Amino acid sequence: MPAFEHHVFVCQNSRPAGAPRRSCTADGTSPVLASLQQKVREAGLGAKVRINKAGCLNQCEHGPVMVVYPEAVWYGNVSPDDAAEIVASHLVGGKPVERLRIADDCLNNPHCPHCG
Ligand code: FES
Repeated sequence: MPAFEHHVFVCQNSRPAGAPRRSCTADGTSPVLASLQQKVREAGLGAKVRINKAGCLNQCEHGPVMVVYPEAVWYGNVSPDDAAEIVASHLVGGKPVERLRIADDCLNNPHCPHCG
């Protein structure tokens, strides 16, 4: 079996109510995962793209969060409706979806303009 062309990690972390940081599960990541899996199947990419559940990816203020390798493109605030565009544009077409991308200067930066 050939190596996967893309590996996608989708945060599925949850935190208890009242925790100091948000969690992607509270922000609705479970349907995002399901939608991505469905769109990858529909596109016939099962042998080329691996979608994996991930624990916290430490970009919690941008949830739901996912990252696509090998490009290391980070997406935030992803909705289930965005899955089709991510699959068609990025995983099939090789063009990341810029409107969903977490800016490089926001990654691992609790002081980014979106985390206030
Ligand atoms: S809870 Fe999803 S990135 Fe931390």
